[in-house]
Amino acid sequence: MSQSDPSKIFSRIAGTGGYLPERVMTNKDLEKIVETDDQWIRDRTGIEQRHISADSQTTSDLAYEAAILALEMANVKAEDLDLIVVATTTPDKIFPSTATILQQKLGNRGAPAFDVQAVCTGFVYGLSVADQFVKTGMAKKVLVVGAETLSRITNWTDRNTCVLFGDGAGAVVLESSTEAGILSTHIHADGQYEDLLHVPSGPSKVAQTDDIAERTMNMKGNEVFKVAVNTLSRIASETLEANNITKEDLDWLVPHQANLRIINATAKKLSLGADQTVVTVNRHANTSSASVPLALNEAVRDGRIQRGQLLLLEAFGGGFTWGSALIKF
Ligand code: UT7
Repeated sequence: MSQSDPSKIFSRIAGTGGYLPERVMTNKDLEKIVETDDQWIRDRTGIEQRHISADSQTTSDLAYEAAILALEMANVKAEDLDLIVVATTTPDKIFPSTATILQQKLGNRGAPAFDVQAVCTGFVYGLSVADQFVKTGMAKKVLVVGAETLSRITNWTDRNTCVLFGDGAGAVVLESSTEAGILSTHIHADGQYEDLLHVPSGPSKVAQTDDIAERTMNMKGNEVFKVAVNTLSRIASETLEANNITKEDLDWLVPHQANLRIINATAKKLSLGADQTVVTVNRHANTSSASVPLALNEAVRDGRIQRGQLLLLEAFGGGFTWGSALIKF
């Protein structure tokens, strides 16, 4: 694993940003909407509250707030970006892409801008795509955002799902560097699990009834849980092996925030304690593609994650999709 190699180009994280909508919905608030209780949600998921967008806020609005902070930290001007990637499952419109709407808000013109759709693994997919552009010299300054307004595709009458999700956005600015940054990314999918976690209808597969369940998230939680735990353990091993390192070399696990029990199982497998695992699920719930960059941003900004440390990012989501990134911060 090289620290600095003038013959090689790396993508280095130059800045991070995050944004959560102002409105907080607690488990107690949910008790008034569906038959659930605060203790059940805490025990089964670790979630205590989630943030919900205002009616006027779109995914690109959330993405914009996170992007501005990441650009500021990186000391990069929006007009100098030469690629914008937005990972989202809840785009503002069917088209144009949320990335081009964000581009307009940021005042960038001409850079390629596109969305990546890999549900909860979206940010890791976006990071992987951006990394290929940087490594091949196609781009030098890249904005990668994970942003979601999941509250818009939540069935607020279904207790199996509505307690699990929240809204938010996280962003990173990548810069081309001869110093080590992203060391490897690993992305996968297996479409045979489509029906375990999905929104049944869309622009092409038109809803056949007025049932709200057709237009909102459906999940067989228990089955997803089992596959998630096993898959995340496999992707962690794959990442360590590909980089010829051991779990002892890792400084931080920055996991997807779906369920505290899943996070703890992955951390345990890697022998990482609570002081080496970034947890935001208690306050953010599952924000899909925003969850990993929001967690990363929080630990960078509060000083836990330091320059030079080795981070393992991982995620798992609908599709199924899953992925990881090993990063020298
Ligand atoms: O980000 C993408 C990946 N997503 C995930 O990784 C999520 C994976 N799944 C999970 O996190 C968990 O499976 C859940 C948190 C969704 C559910 O936890 P569980 O321990 O798997 O519970 P369960 O689905 O087996 O349900 C247990 C019981 C059921 O009652 P019975 O049938 O045992 O009487 C449910 O009806 O809990 C009941 N239940 C609830 N009770 C109170 C389900 N939802 C609720 C609720 N409040 N909100």
